[in-house]
Amino acid sequence: MERSLVLLKPDCVQRRLMGQIISRFEDKGLNIIAMKLLQVTPEMSKQHYAEHVEKPFYPGLEEFITGAPVLAMVIEGLEVIRVIREMLGATSGLKAASGTIRGDYSSSRQMNLVHASDSPEAAAREIGLYFDAAEVLDFTPCLTPWLKAGDE
Ligand code: CMP
Repeated sequence: MERSLVLLKPDCVQRRLMGQIISRFEDKGLNIIAMKLLQVTPEMSKQHYAEHVEKPFYPGLEEFITGAPVLAMVIEGLEVIRVIREMLGATSGLKAASGTIRGDYSSSRQMNLVHASDSPEAAAREIGLYFDAAEVLDFTPCLTPWLKAGDE
């Protein structure tokens, strides 16, 4: 089992799309094992987006990500990091394929609705930034035997 840190960004919260996006992950059979609505601070933004801090678009990204609440989740599943990034589509909503979350709901490079970890190392770092260990539940939904075979 793998874990990913998923953020429904301020544009997603403001556009009242949280329910529809959460449903996509639930419908896929992925497990939400932590969830929290919070306001990202400039300090958290710099830690989260450390690799982008020196890039020209970073000031706008910080203003955007701190501009309204975000919904942070930890989602667990088989190969979940790749699976979720494929569900999101390309970074820019203008380039993301139809049928992906960004392809269906976003027409922007910055306001692309959802962030998801891009590697196990990033997931561990990002989960630690948004959640205390006790907030991440050890939870196996009772439907699990109907969502995958025991040896998968
Ligand atoms: P995310 O997957 O959260 O990772 C970094 C974020 O920076 C990205 O989604 C976009 O919201 C934003 N981003 C990436 N590239 C650009 C860009 N060229 N201009 C503006 N914002 C960008």
